[in-house]
Amino acid sequence: MTFPARRGAYSLLSLLQVALCAVHFQSPSDLPSVDYDFIVAGGGLAGSVVASRLGENQDFKILVIEAGPSNEEIFESQVPGLSLTVSAPGTRVDWNYTIVPQTHVNGFVGPYLRAMMLGGCSSHNEMMYTRCSRDDYDRWAAMTGDINLSWDKLYPYFIKAEMWSGPNIPSLSEAGHFDPSFHGSNGKVNVSAPYHVHPLNDLMVEAVKELSQSSDEFPALLDHNGGRPIGMGWDQDTIGGGFRSSSATAYMAHTGDNVHVLLNTRVTRILPSTNHPSNSIDIRTVEFATSPKGPTSRRTATKELIVAGGVVNSPQILLNSGIGPKDELKALGIKSLIDNPSVGKNFSDQPSILIGISTNLPTDDFNTTTALSEWIDSHTGRYAGPPHLASLGWVRFPGTSSPFKDGTPDPTAGPNSPHIELFFRNVTSIPDLNTSPGNATLLMNIVNLNPVARGSITLATSSPFDAPVIDPNLLGVPVDTAIFLEGVRSIQRLFSAQTFKSSVFELAMPKADADGTLADEVIVDYVEHNAGPNIHGVATCSMAPHGADWGVVDPEFKVRETTGLRIVDGSVMPFVPSGHTQAPTYALAEWASEVIKSSWK
Ligand SMILES: Cc1cc2nc3c(=O)[nH]c(=O)nc-3n(C[C@H](O)[C@H](O)[C@H](O)COP(=O)(O)OP(=O)(O)OC[C@H]3O[C@@H](n4cnc5c(N)ncnc54)[C@H](O)[C@@H]3O)c2cc1C
Ligand SMILES: *[C@@H]1O[C@H](CO)[C@@H](O)[C@H](O)[C@H]1NC(C)=O
Ligand SMILES: *[C@@H]1O[C@H](CO)[C@@H](O)[C@H](O)[C@H]1NC(C)=O
Ligand SMILES: *[C@@H]1O[C@H](CO)[C@@H](O)[C@H](O)[C@H]1NC(C)=O
Ligand SMILES: *[C@@H]1O[C@H](CO)[C@@H](O)[C@H](O)[C@H]1NC(C)=O
Ligand SMILES: *[C@@H]1O[C@H](CO)[C@@H](O)[C@H](O)[C@H]1NC(C)=O
Ligand SMILES: *[C@@H]1O[C@H](CO)[C@@H](O)[C@H](O)[C@H]1NC(C)=O
Ligand SMILES: *[C@@H]1O[C@H](CO)[C@@H](O)[C@H](O)[C@H]1NC(C)=O
Repeated sequence: MTFPARRGAYSLLSLLQVALCAVHFQSPSDLPSVDYDFIVAGGGLAGSVVASRLGENQDFKILVIEAGPSNEEIFESQVPGLSLTVSAPGTRVDWNYTIVPQTHVNGFVGPYLRAMMLGGCSSHNEMMYTRCSRDDYDRWAAMTGDINLSWDKLYPYFIKAEMWSGPNIPSLSEAGHFDPSFHGSNGKVNVSAPYHVHPLNDLMVEAVKELSQSSDEFPALLDHNGGRPIGMGWDQDTIGGGFRSSSATAYMAHTGDNVHVLLNTRVTRILPSTNHPSNSIDIRTVEFATSPKGPTSRRTATKELIVAGGVVNSPQILLNSGIGPKDELKALGIKSLIDNPSVGKNFSDQPSILIGISTNLPTDDFNTTTALSEWIDSHTGRYAGPPHLASLGWVRFPGTSSPFKDGTPDPTAGPNSPHIELFFRNVTSIPDLNTSPGNATLLMNIVNLNPVARGSITLATSSPFDAPVIDPNLLGVPVDTAIFLEGVRSIQRLFSAQTFKSSVFELAMPKADADGTLADEVIVDYVEHNAGPNIHGVATCSMAPHGADWGVVDPEFKVRETTGLRIVDGSVMPFVPSGHTQAPTYALAEWASEVIKSSWK
């Protein structure tokens, strides 16, 4: 052994810490009378990262308050193939939110899924791992005037969070589905490129080769996580060894016993402690309860309070506490503490539509009973991977394409950003999908990655236990619909490849005419009746430059006009990045942890 003695002692201590892990309390009355340095309101994706990183300093005592149970109680949260089961609406671990009737989607009303358990939505989401485009971060840095938020500066935090972990099914090599040079292998969250065997996998590779000879719309893309996600490639997911990896399993489960987690308890309000001389209000106290009528308790952090309730609940907590648009709060009888018109506004979520295409490819149905016993026995089989197909595409439209012909500005953050995502779900024989007789349906989503319309989160009542009013304002501006029209045309171009001639046929949803033609009006009508939220909402507590007269947090995540209070979660992102939001939220939370730690050195 050549290790110096101190290093050896340190290693032993680390082992001990791993063995200890965060201490869980099931109800407020169990909580010890400890003075906590930091209190984190919401033990979701970001909250778990921040609590765990702060907890690396053994001198800090941290309290996390989470509305839901521990992820460890929810079996389905472990099994990748059950992600659509654990995230179904109306489960024990869902907030049961519904969006208001969508004016531009024929009055559509539907669920707005949010997990209520430790790890938040990282414990129930569909696990796709997409860092989005470098432009997304560079725009964010330019907009806030803080270079630290740029792709190049945040890149080390993606790596810090990531633990490359493939393959999940030993017999299925994941080589050729990703570029190892873009990935971290000393981090926390397991990431891999799992797939199941289906003919679409090889056909797509062939088609891309064929189409690339005559067009640059569908280039082959080995790995979408290098900052320029444009092209056709492969899915990656937060899965390792056949298990879902979440901020609860990857971070929270490995903290020391200086991190306490109070479960099944809602933060109802945050409260001022003292007034500071400088016009700012010091807010480090949380009020919490387990039911609307139940008693409330309070705790004050000696250092900082960090709100991490996610895109719906972080603004709700602020609004309930009197931080928000003064007039709106007054109308509900809530006393104004800080008049900030930005709280809950600028809500941005990507609209998505489900597309069906007639195909004679085999369905990828499987025996779920067998799959479950295989997973329980060996953590392999269909349930060791995600519930969707492995092909994944990202298309950028040229500036001359139809959505921008009339001079409409390009909504993307820059030339490395796709306009749409092509997300291939499955091949199914569910009847009534308009499919041509004798054929199955290839189901896929087109996602408009850079919506221009903005919605809002407002309060319905002054009770913290009542659901807020959630309005994503889907398709609220015409270009958001125009992008879908071009998206459907793009899919038609993709499947017009000779490679697909004998296997993938005409569109079934929206339905093409018998001769295969599909009018613009039919597509637009379909979009305006079928768009739904992609549940990647952001921006309801948007970050803005220091000293701006709008926005909720500054580039150090501090809430305007306060001391002692930050928000760290997806709600602070000013624009939704051009992909799925969990990888960006991990990097953001890792960075925020650095910022907070560095201010208490
Ligand atoms: C069904 C679904 C599928 C998704 N699929 C993907 C995917 O495949 N890939 C991807 O990249 N992204 C996906 N996402 C998005 C991604 O999971 C989120 O962007 C991410 O989890 C946001 O993290 P967050 O920390 O902002 O919020 P959350 O993870 O939502 O965490 C918020 C936490 O705060 C708790 N909380 C809220 N209010 C209170 C309160 N008052 N008191 C106490 N606790 C409170 C909540 O219970 C929750 O645990 C999906 C989201 C959903 C809903
Ligand atoms: C959502 O609905 C389910 C089923 O009724 C219930 O068990 C759960 O507690 C509800 N969630 C909330 C936050 O009320
Ligand atoms: C952000 O970047 C600047 C310039 O590199 C640096 O001086 C500053 O300390 C960084 N901010 C934080 C909070 O680390
Ligand atoms: C998953 O990540 C953890 C680190 O958080 C690591 O210890 C473990 O080995 C990884 N699992 C696999 C299968 O690689
Ligand atoms: C919404 O965001 C824009 C910047 O994208 C900002 O100019 C505007 O003030 C914000 N609106 C509110 C109400 O905060
Ligand atoms: C295929 O996808 C659809 C839409 O998401 C879903 O309803 C269906 O259950 C899926 N089928 C299988 C076998 O996973
Ligand atoms: C699934 O497999 C089980 C066990 O082999 C069998 O009993 C069952 O009939 C199968 N189900 C279907 C729908 O084929
Ligand atoms: C499937 O659809 C194609 C195109 O519409 C059609 O030519 C073919 O006959 C159908 N297959 C069967 C088995 O009916």
